[in-house]
Amino acid sequence: MIDEKIQGALDSILVPGADRSIVQLNLVKSVEQNDGMVRVVLGNAALSAEVQKYVSESARVAVAAVTGGDAKVDFVAAKPEVVNEIAHTVAVMSGKGGVGKSLVTGLLAAELKRRGYSVGILDADLTGSSIPKMFGVDGRPQGSDNGILPVMTASGMPIIAMNLLLESDDQPVIWRGPLIDKAIRQFGKEVLWGKLDYLLIDLPPGTADAVLTVMQAFPIDGAVIVFTPQDLVEMIVRKAFNMAKMMDKKVLGVVENMSYVYVPELDKKMEIFGPSRGEEMAKIAGAPLLGQIAIDPQIATLCDAGNIDGYESQVVTDLGENLLSALGVSV
Ligand SMILES: Nc1ncnc2c1ncn2[C@@H]1O[C@H](COP(=O)(O)OP(=O)(O)OP(=O)(O)O)[C@@H](O)[C@H]1O
Ligand SMILES: [Mg+2]
Repeated sequence: MIDEKIQGALDSILVPGADRSIVQLNLVKSVEQNDGMVRVVLGNAALSAEVQKYVSESARVAVAAVTGGDAKVDFVAAKPEVVNEIAHTVAVMSGKGGVGKSLVTGLLAAELKRRGYSVGILDADLTGSSIPKMFGVDGRPQGSDNGILPVMTASGMPIIAMNLLLESDDQPVIWRGPLIDKAIRQFGKEVLWGKLDYLLIDLPPGTADAVLTVMQAFPIDGAVIVFTPQDLVEMIVRKAFNMAKMMDKKVLGVVENMSYVYVPELDKKMEIFGPSRGEEMAKIAGAPLLGQIAIDPQIATLCDAGNIDGYESQVVTDLGENLLSALGVSV
């Protein structure tokens, strides 16, 4: 057990470029206290030499201030994949593009964060990242030879996406399969998330190689399947379900997006893409219907404004609650 005062002092040291503390990043390896001397050992994952120097000096001063004695802070080599401690990893998928996977990922992440959990998002749609834009993030990730630090959203959520690493946002990513595979595996090994309650992975559309790689490379608890009430929905959900099953991954639930439009003047829900098939799809996937999201102009506006976490509704609250239940977390 680390002394509470020392723990507090270490938790006050924010890592530049990560905006999270060395405790939140799970970098504290050991703390020893002997004859008025405190010796702290930190992992160096993703921290440049300059950042390590800053962190060790600020940690030394902060610890010495609370103990009134001397302190020494050293770094040892540590890889992000060893440092990361992620309680639950959830992939959001669909057998089809443009149905709202990124939106559902963003809404779920924001809702879990509002509930007090630490949440991160990995945008695994390497050629069409949309998570950074939804959260209004365009900073460049910092890091070292050893790893990458995710970029923080305004509300304090770490996210990583391929387009953040590219020179410019509108640069198209035209990669062949093996390179995409390599990039995804590198994300799995080299991104420093530290301690997270939930890591949500926004998958690219379809059931292609990239989806397979994510399912192999990450310890996924399960997948959330997103669909819209359109033609062929049954085939699309089946495809996603079979993919998850093939990879031995559990389907945690299904989400119907663009279920209906609510017309306030008539106080009526209009099912413009056809009647809802939410319950039917839940049956096919053998998993609960986590929610039905309306077509809402406010969603599109907030996505465009980079403020998706500003969208709150009963549906989103329930979405979060239902996902937690599907994960076996008591709410
Ligand atoms: N329920 C909704 N109401 C209003 N707009 C929506 C809704 N769902 C999605 N959109 C809009 O549709 C667009 C596509 O959604 P999104 O990017 O989440 O789909 P996707 O499945 O991730 O797409 P891709 O397959 O390209 O990754 C977004 O720009 C979003 O603003
Ligand atoms: Mg997407």
